[in-house]
Amino acid sequence: MFNLVLFGPPGSGKGTQSENIVKTYNLQHISTGDLLREEVSRHTPLGTEAKKYMDQGMLVPDEVVIGMISSRIDEIPDARGFIFDGFPRTRHQAEALDKLLEFKQTKIHLVLALDVPEPQLIKRLIGRGETSGRSDDTEEVITKRIKEYHLKTQPVADYYSAYGKLEQVTGDHTVAETFASLAKHINKYLLPVT
Ligand code: AP5
Repeated sequence: MFNLVLFGPPGSGKGTQSENIVKTYNLQHISTGDLLREEVSRHTPLGTEAKKYMDQGMLVPDEVVIGMISSRIDEIPDARGFIFDGFPRTRHQAEALDKLLEFKQTKIHLVLALDVPEPQLIKRLIGRGETSGRSDDTEEVITKRIKEYHLKTQPVADYYSAYGKLEQVTGDHTVAETFASLAKHINKYLLPVT
């Protein structure tokens, strides 16, 4: 099993690149943002609670997302591997993920961090907001999401760097060029299936 964390600030291209990686390497995609939005659209109690945080650009409490991840991993026992998109986002989440994977006798093998200048992130997300219908793609909420990223999520990069698992990848080239840079790192661990 090969497990990858795709790391980076809001709008850095985690979702976009995950799609390509999933197709090329046959990995299972777990995006906590997508899972939370699904809960919101189904009006579940978890979704109603999470929406309060998401609409303000704040992180949803750790226990909520860790519980979701754990159930999702259990649902796909024969996965070739997982790509974690938007998770972990705090040090506590990173430690919890290590414990979950250790229990399954596996681990995080590689963390690829997309690096995109902030003005570019804001431009991309405002552009997406014009068509996505995402309630957090407004300039005010985007600014809060980026602040939250610097405050709580960036330390996760140091956590993985200390284990020698972190690789930085420039993310402001075209989608195809960025994918090629990511693939160079992944190919050291896993052969493409397509
Ligand atoms: P989440 O859904 O994870 O949002 P995010 O991290 O803010 O990331 P985005 O989906 O906005 O951006 P992305 O990096 O995936 O970029 P994308 O590929 O879409 O989280 C939303 C909320 O849920 C959080 O604020 C929080 O409240 C909650 N949450 C989620 N996970 C949580 C967790 N673990 N703990 C606690 N709370 C959690 O690209 C963006 C745009 O750019 C697109 O329009 C795309 O087409 C474009 N684009 C992508 N690549 C390129 C390129 N190379 N060139 C030009 N345009 C590009």
